[in-house]
Amino acid sequence: MGTDNRPIGILDSGFGGLSIFLAVRSQMPTEPILYFGDSKFAPYGKKDPSFIKERVEKIINFLIGQEAKLIVVACNTATVTGIDYYRQNFPSVPIVGVVPVLKTAGKMTKSNKIAILETTTTARSSYQTNLINKFAANCKVVSVACDDLVVKLENGDLEVAGKALENHLQKGNLKDVDVLVLGCTHFVFLRKFTQNSSWRVLDSGEAVARQVKRIIENNKIAGFGRESIFFTSGDEKAFAKIAGFLIKSEIKNCQRVGITNDSDKIHLS
Ligand code: DGL
Repeated sequence: MGTDNRPIGILDSGFGGLSIFLAVRSQMPTEPILYFGDSKFAPYGKKDPSFIKERVEKIINFLIGQEAKLIVVACNTATVTGIDYYRQNFPSVPIVGVVPVLKTAGKMTKSNKIAILETTTTARSSYQTNLINKFAANCKVVSVACDDLVVKLENGDLEVAGKALENHLQKGNLKDVDVLVLGCTHFVFLRKFTQNSSWRVLDSGEAVARQVKRIIENNKIAGFGRESIFFTSGDEKAFAKIAGFLIKSEIKNCQRVGITNDSDKIHLS
């Protein structure tokens, strides 16, 4: 097998994609990873799709400039908004997206009632409607839009976000739901607040990491890396602190990168 020590680039609006980072690192511990959290512009959940596409396009461009050999759009909202657009614009690099795991949920449910915790944009997307029609057509799918949790998590308030999540779950029409899908990468860090013996809780991490591994093996681009590097459009100290807490390891290399949205130029500061 060939060796390619260029890094994998993973991006999200903020900290959510770190749940994908953990899954990728666990399946491919030697791969170097660049992580980009667009903290200054988080949350994406209710923003205009054209704004989200522009941000993600610029971040992918930045990561490719840092020699990323594969990109993971570790954000359901950004994926359903523009995965085809990103792939068209960057045909030379494989781009993996993250979407709610409706295929697995559709196979797993016995009650034929599934709930998805997600952002408003993901819930309203035609991408998700297509997934439901394809994989869960005979199921009742309840969407619980929890955009507020993203903001709370971005502030590092895990317990506050957890309590808000419990509230959403109590208010939602979840009677008979036996599969709960975490349709936002942020919510994986709140898994302990979703405990309820009557449902299974699914997230996309393992499947996405498997897909990344498959592409790397098929293209013979496995590599051996240095320590991961973290980039944020927000404050690098605050980012390193909260991200380090979430991934349970100290973040030594975190850099602030200002990518403006008002021109085609990328400004590094
Ligand atoms: N982590 C994100 C997702 O998977 C985005 C959340 C947000 O920025 O609103 O959808």
